[in-house]
Amino acid sequence: MDINDKSGYQHYTPNENRYHNINYKRCGQSGITLPLISLGLWHNFGHADDLLKGQDILRTAFDLGVVHFDLANNYGPPYGAAETNFGRLMNTDFTPYRDELFISSKAGYDMWPGPHGNFGSRKHLISSLDQSLKRMNLDYVDLFYHHRPDPETPLYETMCALDYIVRSGRALYVGISNYPADMASEAIDILDSLGTPCLIHQARYSMFDRWVEDDLLDTLAQKGVGCIAFSPLAQGMLTSKYVDGIPERSRADNPMTYLQRETVEQQLPRIKALNKIALARGQSLSDMAIAWLLKDQRVSSVLVGVSSAEQLRQNVAGLGKTQFSEDELTAIARILA
Ligand SMILES: NC(=O)c1ccc[n+]([C@@H]2O[C@H](COP(=O)([O-])OP(=O)(O)OC[C@H]3O[C@@H](n4cnc5c(N)ncnc54)[C@H](OP(=O)(O)O)[C@@H]3O)[C@@H](O)[C@H]2O)c1
Repeated sequence: MDINDKSGYQHYTPNENRYHNINYKRCGQSGITLPLISLGLWHNFGHADDLLKGQDILRTAFDLGVVHFDLANNYGPPYGAAETNFGRLMNTDFTPYRDELFISSKAGYDMWPGPHGNFGSRKHLISSLDQSLKRMNLDYVDLFYHHRPDPETPLYETMCALDYIVRSGRALYVGISNYPADMASEAIDILDSLGTPCLIHQARYSMFDRWVEDDLLDTLAQKGVGCIAFSPLAQGMLTSKYVDGIPERSRADNPMTYLQRETVEQQLPRIKALNKIALARGQSLSDMAIAWLLKDQRVSSVLVGVSSAEQLRQNVAGLGKTQFSEDELTAIARILA
């Protein structure tokens, strides 16, 4: 069935109990609370993907109370496709619930040809967000990020652009992503001075990638800025799916993704050892990997991707057990060292 084929369209009635499935946590010192698990549309929403599956994922998310959907200008492929497909699903299913959703997008990576299609100029950020809003059929996003640091544009220009984006009504909040701690600190101070506080930093953080623990998490906590951890399952490596080899149609099986087969093979001994600890805790490895991040009060939400609605159901259902004994933490630290 095609999503445009209205004759086959199944009307969507959201779960009335959608806010009874997941807890919400305050994001830094802001007025916003986020679900402990948020949903990213980096993968599985491109033009080659099955949009009915995407619809199932988004409906399931909303039914579970996962109201934060994260996009970017260049998610696809091709660039823009995830926002276009999300916009179609907004139209069919979610327009009546716009105020319940917290939708983010970003700009700062390669998007269109020429000198203005990338990085952090005022020109790039405002033009890109205007394109994103059209693709998503939205009047505004709840959160707009500068996607990565720009080595050349003055930070002040980038932050002034974010401030303008809020003042012009295109976004309610702004954030930064992939900024190292010192640059994040400077950006947050500039935004404060402009009167548009930085809501959140979106940083890669998982058991396999712990760079944020050096300085960033403390910096954000001191400044009252939230942290949302992206790729919390290390793109699927921190699940049990690779324990017995690389399954067909998994991310590592797809040469078009950033997850290399060799990386999975290198990590396999650690994956197996962590899997054993998870099983001894009565948890799946993915549930343990998410719990391990959420045990840190400085983490506001974990931003997962899923290739099926069932994966999201499992991730939300697995949120119960977030306590770790000292012995478990020591054993995990030894594996990750
Ligand atoms: N700011 C940035 O620069 C940046 C960069 C990257 C990502 N992000 C954001 O972070 C989001 C998440 O990134 P990610 O997709 O790499 O996150 P991830 O959660 O680490 O990995 C997602 C993959 O894990 C597997 N998975 C998830 N739940 C599972 C379960 N219950 N059982 C088995 N496998 C499961 C699936 O793999 P299979 O596909 O193999 O089934 C899924 O595609 C993105 O969508 C995007 O919004 C931001």
